[in-house]
Amino acid sequence: MGIQITPSILNADLSRLADEVARIPSADWVHVDVMDNHFVPNLTLGLPVIEALSKHASQPIDVHLMIEDADRWAPAYAEAGCGSVTFHAEAATAPVRLAREIRAQGARAAMALKPATPIEPYEALLPELDMVLIMTVEPGFGGQKFLDLCLPKIRTARELMRKHGVETWLQVDGGVSLETIERCAEAGADVFVAGSAVFSADDPDAMVRGLKAKAEAASR
Ligand code: DX5
Ligand code: ZN
Repeated sequence: MGIQITPSILNADLSRLADEVARIPSADWVHVDVMDNHFVPNLTLGLPVIEALSKHASQPIDVHLMIEDADRWAPAYAEAGCGSVTFHAEAATAPVRLAREIRAQGARAAMALKPATPIEPYEALLPELDMVLIMTVEPGFGGQKFLDLCLPKIRTARELMRKHGVETWLQVDGGVSLETIERCAEAGADVFVAGSAVFSADDPDAMVRGLKAKAEAASR
């Protein structure tokens, strides 16, 4: 599939979401962060806003659920038409069943890991997942500093995917910028979330293209 960029709208102007998404035509996906004030200490938006936004976005929605009780709530995001639904490993009690439910609704199923959560206990789940998200900040807020301590986990995840011969995408989220994207790509990531880097740029679409070019060069 190659390198993909999925800008997070968390730090965009939330009062003009459709206009903000129209500023990033080169993006492969639109990353939407759902937070419930329990799994993370922040509250954002949910299903009704995503349903409204998806009617105006030309790209598919990549929803990142930072919510408790993912087993109960995640399938509805797939049913609502999100192209990819990411639940947190720390918030799912039956991740295999949940991934199968998401796939049964026609969406890609993805599982996220906070910085302190290892990938190794989930090795056997890889064939059930279309994407693994390695968080490179503690989830909850945009604009945080990239955590280099997560790079070895990206490498390990890529090695495990090769070992199992799966086509699972490997996403990174948090502090991704022109400064940090090469390190992630070299470690094996192929899907890049970038929030503040894109929406604080004068030309967000040029930033999307710049990030992609850097990641492509580094992954070669
Ligand atoms: C953080 C969210 C991210 C956030 C990234 O919990 O999951 O998607 O928007 O923002 P930046 O790129 O600014 O770190
Ligand atoms: Zn996110």
